[in-house]
Amino acid sequence: MRSLFAGGALMLAALLALPAVAAAKPAPADEQVLNIGHRGASGLAPEHTFPAYDLALKQGADYIEQDLQQTSDGTLVVIHDAMLDRTARGPAANCTGLVSEKTLEQLKTCDVGSWFNDAFPDRAREEYVGLEIPTLEEVLRRYRHRTNYYIETKNPDDADRMEERLVALLDEYNLLRPAADRWQVLVQSFSPLSLERLHALEPGLPLIQLFFGSGTSETIQARLDTLADSVVGIGLSKTDVDAALVEAAHERCLDIHPYTVNESAEMRDLIDLGVDGMFTNFPARLDEVLGRDAVGGKHAAKRAADAHSACVAGD
Ligand code: G3P
Ligand code: CA
Repeated sequence: MRSLFAGGALMLAALLALPAVAAAKPAPADEQVLNIGHRGASGLAPEHTFPAYDLALKQGADYIEQDLQQTSDGTLVVIHDAMLDRTARGPAANCTGLVSEKTLEQLKTCDVGSWFNDAFPDRAREEYVGLEIPTLEEVLRRYRHRTNYYIETKNPDDADRMEERLVALLDEYNLLRPAADRWQVLVQSFSPLSLERLHALEPGLPLIQLFFGSGTSETIQARLDTLADSVVGIGLSKTDVDAALVEAAHERCLDIHPYTVNESAEMRDLIDLGVDGMFTNFPARLDEVLGRDAVGGKHAAKRAADAHSACVAGD
């Protein structure tokens, strides 16, 4: 009896001496996978316009994405490309060339709907003609707390105080606390420096480090340890996702959100690998694969935030 007790005590001592092993973040159930409307429902309506955002939300997107550029007079506008030429039509002096070299007044003369009608006649709609480039403030004013925002700082190293302007707007629209508490706002960037600046300005803001498609599962895995303290997840090309990367991310409590996933079969494959969400131009298609009924919204984001917190706490 005595020797058994002594053995048990030794085992207990050995167990207590082991370092605590943090619980890995479990993969979400299907219906909890985040449906991120990439530039809105940009497969069916002109990207980064109100019709594209409205449609994304109607089709079950949990998040609408905004790609930020900055005008020459310091306004944050929502347009993907640094150059206007692909999606803007209007006076050449205002609607061609770099967004960063135009004033907001110039940009507001551009039409970012007509290109879509020309490119996709089968999805063309008269009401897309004349759509304006929205400012971030116009987007926040329209949707307020009704949706979740997945905002990307584009070309942040060439834009004066882009991060300060973004944080100030989120503050003005009372979104900083909901961002921290329930991931109502996620901010993503390919630029580690931009994320560092955001973290310094607002440590509670949940951040996503993006990786270009030129990465690989292995090179991304090698970066995860340095990221885990400052971001809540990673966004990466769907072609770079494999089971080892999902496991490595979840072991570090990081969410993993591939882009841009438009076919049902690839959506299913990524869900089976355990991803936490994905960017899609077709939110209704993902909604169907997830077996939801276009409910979307705050609940999935809140669950994701809670799962991350529980993982970090080791629960
Ligand atoms: O932000 C995720 C994904 O949108 C990154 O690619 O070029 O569409 O901004 P891009
Ligand atoms: Ca983006």
